Order: sequence, then C-alpha cells, then structure tokens
Amino acid sequence: METTQEIVDNLVDNDRVYEQAVGILNSGGIVAFPTETVYGLGAIATNEQAVQRIFEAKGRPSDNPLIVHIGNQSDIEKYATDIAEIADVLLKEFWPGPLTLIMKKKAGVIADVVTAGLDTVAIRMPDHPIALALLRKLDQPLAAPSANRSGKPSPTEADHVYYDLIGRVPLILDGGETGVGVESTILDITVTPPVILRPGGITKEQLENLIGTVHIATLPTDQTVTPRAPGMKYAHYAPEAPLFIIEPNADSIAHALETSHQQNKRVAMIGPDELYTERADWYFSTGSIHNREAMASSLYKLIRQCDNTEADMILAIETDHSGIGAAVMNRLDKASDGKRFTE
Ligand code: TXA
Ligand code: MG
Repeated sequence: METTQEIVDNLVDNDRVYEQAVGILNSGGIVAFPTETVYGLGAIATNEQAVQRIFEAKGRPSDNPLIVHIGNQSDIEKYATDIAEIADVLLKEFWPGPLTLIMKKKAGVIADVVTAGLDTVAIRMPDHPIALALLRKLDQPLAAPSANRSGKPSPTEADHVYYDLIGRVPLILDGGETGVGVESTILDITVTPPVILRPGGITKEQLENLIGTVHIATLPTDQTVTPRAPGMKYAHYAPEAPLFIIEPNADSIAHALETSHQQNKRVAMIGPDELYTERADWYFSTGSIHNREAMASSLYKLIRQCDNTEADMILAIETDHSGIGAAVMNRLDKASDGKRFTE
C-alpha cells in the first residue's frame, strides 16, 4: 500500500483532500488525521471490517476498545442511551475538546469491535478544525485510536504517523503539530461520582470545579477482564532505552549522571530549561519548569527524539501532579514501567 501525506491548510485545495479522505473511509478504509490531542487513525465506527483494519495497521489487540469521534454534540444520542444528566453541563463546557465520556451504549449502531464487547461506549468531539471538517463532511462517527504503531508514543506530528504507519495507511492528513500533546481525559459518567479512567487534556481540577467530586480509577486486580480503563492491561508504549523518572533536583541529577557514566551508559534526558545540564549526553527541554502545558505538548515528541539517539537509558525529570501534570506523570509512569532513579 502506498502512503500519501497531504497538507491541509488555507493555501491548498482542501476540498480535494477531504473528498479523497471521505472516499477512502466510505469504502471501508482508514485515514490518519490530526486532533487537538494527538493524531488519530480513523475508520467508520459502524463498519466492523473497516474498524478491524485499524487494529491490523496498528498491531493492536482488538480487546482494547476505541473512542468514537463525532462532529456534533447532538450526535451522542445516536450512539449512547440513558445519558447521565451531568453530561449536559460537561458538553457545554468542554466539547469540542479533550474530554471523552463513557456512556451506556445504544444497541446495534456502533460496531461491537469498537467497544470490545462492553455495554458502554467512549465518545468525544475533538477540537480541531481538520477533525471536525472531516467528521462533518463524512457525516458518520469515526472510531479512532492514536495513529501510532502499538508500543510507540502517540503521534503529535504527521511525520510521526508516517514513520510508524508507512505502507499501512493510504492517507495521512497533515495539520501540523497537535496542541495538547497528551490524549483526552476519559471520564466514566455511568457511575456516581464519575471516575477518571485516564487523566488527559481536561484536568481533574477543571472537572471538579464544574461538577464536584470525581474519582480516579485505580488498577484492576483481575488482569483477565477487558480493561475498564485504558492502558491498565496493556503497556502503552515503551521507549527503546529503559526510562527512569528522577526528582527535579540538580544534585540528584548530577549524581545519577555520574553513576551512569561510570557504568559507561550514555544518558538522554527530558526535563525543563531550569535543570539543563551539560553532563547529560543529550538533553531535550520541555520548556520552562512552570509551564506544564508545554511539557505535555512536547513529551511524546521528545521521547521519540530520545529513541533516535544512541542513549542506553533515558532520565525523565518529574513534574508535580497538579493540572495537566497528572496526565504527564501518568504517561511517564507507563513509559518507565514504574522505574525511578534513586540511590
Ligand atoms: O485524545 C485521544 O483520546 C486520542 C485521539 C486520537 O482522539 N485517542 C486515543 O485513543 O487516545 P486510544 O485508542 O489510544 O485510547 C482509547 C482508550 C483505550 O485505551 C480504551 O481502553 C478506552 O479508551 N476506552 C474505549 N472505550 C472504552 C469503554 N467503553 N470503557 C472504558 N474505556 C474505554
Ligand atoms: Mg493510544
């Protein structure tokens, strides 16, 4: 399969590109497109065979359910039922935007493979002009996970998608860098109080300001069941070199680098401007230590950059858990598999 990457902006003939994308999707194919969080790999969510192609292209286990993307708020009634009242105020405030809601699934509309046999469905309306234009022209819901090969960081640029999925996807819509940089927050509103299954672009603080207490999901003990929360059963991604989290302390960092160098290990670091050190073999900056949004938006790209070095290990400097810091640390915890550099 040949992979075409098409820039979509105000200077090119967008209609032609959208027509091409809609044509591929309507004939059961897959298309990669930008959202405000990360690039998605979409297929029409009511078409079982089309959705199956997503799993094949990504190399992703098909018992991990997908998010359904919609182009208009009112579409939720087509795919969900018994919608909790709280949805109203959440939609008004955060849609379009990086908030995915888990609701009771309406029978017989969305393909079963999308929801992995669950009786719930994950729905979001992305806040990106290209995603919204595509959804509205298509006039169908799109099932779309992040457009990376399984085990790689989510793509925040079209080139990341191309690198991962060349020969596996016919068309990539290139809308430049995504903004938020980490995936949407997944909120289960079938329970009271609602539960955050995955921290993301909309913070716990933002949610609680609007609707009061929300809980955060903990790891299930039974690993044989279909995961209730994303990434709880599956490793999300693992960098090629082992990644360790380290505290934001210049002395600890200097000590860690010295120890690693004594063992002839080369170290790539991810951290803020303020903790830059020449002693690291590579230092990839996330911007100012006070700017957690910048850390979120650059994180996946910087992990990919670490993978492109010859580093034997990666040290990622932790940030505090407030605001979008919770999502950043959730992704780093997964990438590190819980490893911290101590000693
Ligand atoms: O920002 C995002 O959400 C991106 C962009 C492309 O929209 N999408 C994304 O999709 O991150 P994905 O497939 O990488 O993550 C979806 C997660 C899965 O890990 C899955 O466990 C969870 O959503 N999920 C989907 N349906 C669910 C359901 N009915 N109940 C619980 N979790 C669900
Ligand atoms: Mg993903």
